[in-house]
Amino acid sequence: MPAFRTLDDADLAGKRVLVRVDLNVPMEEGRVSDTTRIDRVVPTIREIAQKGGKVILLAHFGRPKGRDEKNSLRQVVPALAHALGQPVIFVGDCIGTEAPKAIAAAKNGEVLLLENTRFHAGDEKNDPDFVKALAANGDIYVNDAFSAAHRAHASTEGLAHLLPAYAGRTMQAEIEALSAGLDNPARPVMAIVGGAKVSTKLELLGNLVEKVDVLAIGGGMANTFLAARGINVGKSLCEHDLAQTAREIEAKAEAAGCEILLPVDALVAREFKAHPGHRVVSIGEVGPDEMILDAGPLSVAEVVLKLDKVRTVVWNGPFGAFELPPFDTATVAVAKAVAERVRDGRLVAVAGGGDTVAAMNHAGVAEDLTYVSTAGGAFLEWMEGKALPGVEALRKA
Ligand code: 3PG
Ligand code: MG
Repeated sequence: MPAFRTLDDADLAGKRVLVRVDLNVPMEEGRVSDTTRIDRVVPTIREIAQKGGKVILLAHFGRPKGRDEKNSLRQVVPALAHALGQPVIFVGDCIGTEAPKAIAAAKNGEVLLLENTRFHAGDEKNDPDFVKALAANGDIYVNDAFSAAHRAHASTEGLAHLLPAYAGRTMQAEIEALSAGLDNPARPVMAIVGGAKVSTKLELLGNLVEKVDVLAIGGGMANTFLAARGINVGKSLCEHDLAQTAREIEAKAEAAGCEILLPVDALVAREFKAHPGHRVVSIGEVGPDEMILDAGPLSVAEVVLKLDKVRTVVWNGPFGAFELPPFDTATVAVAKAVAERVRDGRLVAVAGGGDTVAAMNHAGVAEDLTYVSTAGGAFLEWMEGKALPGVEALRKA
């Protein structure tokens, strides 16, 4: 696999450096509620600034259809400037007349953030004219947005073909860590996949059962598999129309020799809120007006037992509605068990995805895992063994 050029190979002094970062961060009441993605791009920005480059940040925010203030990157400027410890010059458009003026006026070592690239349809279309317009503002291109590398967009892929292209430090770290964990993993390998819906991770599950030895399914998507086995899941989140697909995935797993672990018990409640009246039931005893909101203690014990038999864990998606206590119990218990085994050198564990990062932080184990990726979709595609366009474009020919 050809290697990448990194910042070690780049001549940065006096250069206009277009840096693609992922600033698609969660917001609550107008403020950034989790700064992980911002924190991860700080080293690359600082290094370019210290080496005398002008840092010109390109990023997307949300999925706007055209310009819309709700998705303006202006709202992340305070958190970014705070993380960097230096001012950030905001420019209201990523192409056009304003950006070149602001860039020309900036000094070497200063940091500019250009407005949401997705305000132009050309970004997602990877439109050659739009790529050219972006490229006109830079001398070199650095991609530090691993978490957007599954998109073949102008700012994540197209630019790498027009300008000398380099991987940023976070891009490098993500690729190194995920390759170590997933390309040639110590076996047996267990994947833990949770989250709300089977439909969003269908392809992943189908591909994964051919790659891993054990697949533990949690969260709402476990209900779809349980229902497909004929188990009554009451009012639980469940995609009944995917029963046939779930059965096909189980058959594929069996053929591939992959063991599927589904919950054997659950925490159920009648209301979807924190601390409702709840009870622990065996799977099969869920009342018609009850919802499964977390895996139960026996299910946790089964997963933990399995952790002692595997050597690598890749994890995306929580076991329950972890944002509502006590339905964080299974996720926290498994996270702690994984962390303990990583600390003892018995396990390699890589976790990724927005909710998953939040869950690992909540469990207090993010620092203990082998690696925690900021990527969601890109992490899943990497888990499946797919090539990521943003990464491929950086490989040296
Ligand atoms: C993410 O949040 O997963 C990345 O920033 C990619 O965003 P997208 O799914 O809107 O392309
Ligand atoms: Mg996403």
